[in-house]
Amino acid sequence: MSIRRHPQFPQEPDRVYLNHAGVGPWPLRAGEAVQRFASECVTRGSADYPAWLEVEARLRQRLARLFGGVASTDIALVPNTSAGLSLLAYGLPWQPGDEIVINDQEFPSNRWVWESLAPRFGVTIRRVCLDDGPTPEDALIAALSARTRLLPVSSVQYGTGLRMDLERLGAACRERGVLLCVDAIQSLGALRFAIDADCVVADGHKWMLGPEGLGALYLRPELRERLQLNQFGWHMVESLGDFSAAAWQPAASARRFEPGSPNLLAAHALEASLAVLEESGPCEVEEAVLKHARWNMEAARRRGYPLVTPQREDRHAGIVTFQVPLHDPLKLLDALRRAGVACAERCGGIRFSAHFYHAEEELELAWALLDECIGAAS
Ligand SMILES: Cc1ncc(COP(=O)(O)O)c(C=O)c1O
Repeated sequence: MSIRRHPQFPQEPDRVYLNHAGVGPWPLRAGEAVQRFASECVTRGSADYPAWLEVEARLRQRLARLFGGVASTDIALVPNTSAGLSLLAYGLPWQPGDEIVINDQEFPSNRWVWESLAPRFGVTIRRVCLDDGPTPEDALIAALSARTRLLPVSSVQYGTGLRMDLERLGAACRERGVLLCVDAIQSLGALRFAIDADCVVADGHKWMLGPEGLGALYLRPELRERLQLNQFGWHMVESLGDFSAAAWQPAASARRFEPGSPNLLAAHALEASLAVLEESGPCEVEEAVLKHARWNMEAARRRGYPLVTPQREDRHAGIVTFQVPLHDPLKLLDALRRAGVACAERCGGIRFSAHFYHAEEELELAWALLDECIGAAS
C-alpha cells in the first residue's frame, strides 16, 4: 500500500508509527535543526552561542503558549518529567502527617517520588483506585482530607488512556487549599491545555515530538518562591554571567531551577518540533488526534476487541488501548514490531497512540498488519 505521508513526517515506507505515548518521532524540521547545530558545533564551536540562546528563548515562549499561555519566565527547562516532579517533591516543606493523594493508574514516576517522601518526612500517601467512585474525579476528591497537601495526577493516564477532568480537580483543590500537580506528558503537544494548576510538568519526547532529555516545568510563581532549592550552580542566579559577584541570589524567574549549562542540542530539536505543531494549529492538531483515536477505537470495536480506553469523547485523548482475547500481548507486540507497527503493550493489551499527522491509510495499514499477525498466530 503506498501511503501519502505528511511532508514533515517522511517515515519509512510500509511502517506505521503508533507509539507517540512512548517516544515520538521527530518532524523533518527537528532533524534539520539538529544537523545545522551539529555542523556549527563542528566548524565554529560555540562562536554563535548568542544565536543558540535565541533559539532557547523561542523554545520557552512556545512552551509557555503550549502550557496554556503562562509567562515564559515561569517555565523552567528540566531534563525530564521525573526530574520536575522530584523538584517539587523535595522543595515543599513537609510536616509529619501531611497527606498526598495518588492513584492506581499513574506512571511510576508520578507515584514513586511521592512514596519516597513517606519514610523521610512522615508524609502519608493515600493511594486511590480511580474506579472506586462514580467518576475518577469523585474517587480522588473523596480522598482529600484536611491534611491533604498535594494531588499529583496525570492529564491522561499512560496505560488506560483515561483523560482526567482537570478543571474539576483544580476547582476541588482550590476550595480545599490543596496543591494540584499535573503530569501533562500524555497530552501536551496533542491536546490544548488551559488548566489553572500549581505545577505542570512534561518531557518533550512524546506528543511534543522532540528528543528525550528536555522537558518543561511550570510552577505558579507564589509556589516557586516557597520551594526550597536543592540544586545550585552558575546558571540559576539572578545576576547571570557575573562570575565575580561576592553575593548571589536565585533568579526571580523559573531559571532558578536550572543550575548549570543548558541542553542546547535538544533545545534546537524541540523548538523546531513545537514550531511544526504550532504552525499546524493547536485546534487542528487536537481534532486530528481525537479523530484518529476514534478511528482506532472503531477498528477495535468492529473486531470485537475489548477497549481498555474509555470511549466517551471527553474521557480519552490520543491513546487507545485494547485487548485481543486469547493472544499474549507481548507476543503480539513482538509480531507487530516485526511487521512494522510501532506501538506498546499496556494493561494486558496493545496500546496504539496516533498523532495528528497520520493519513487514514496509515491506520488502515496498521490494522491490516495486526489482522495478519493475529491470523498467523491463530
Ligand atoms: C504519564 C507519564 N509520566 C512520566 C513519564 C516518564 O517521564 P520522564 O521520562 O520524562 O521522566 C511517562 C513515560 O511514559 C509517562 O507516561
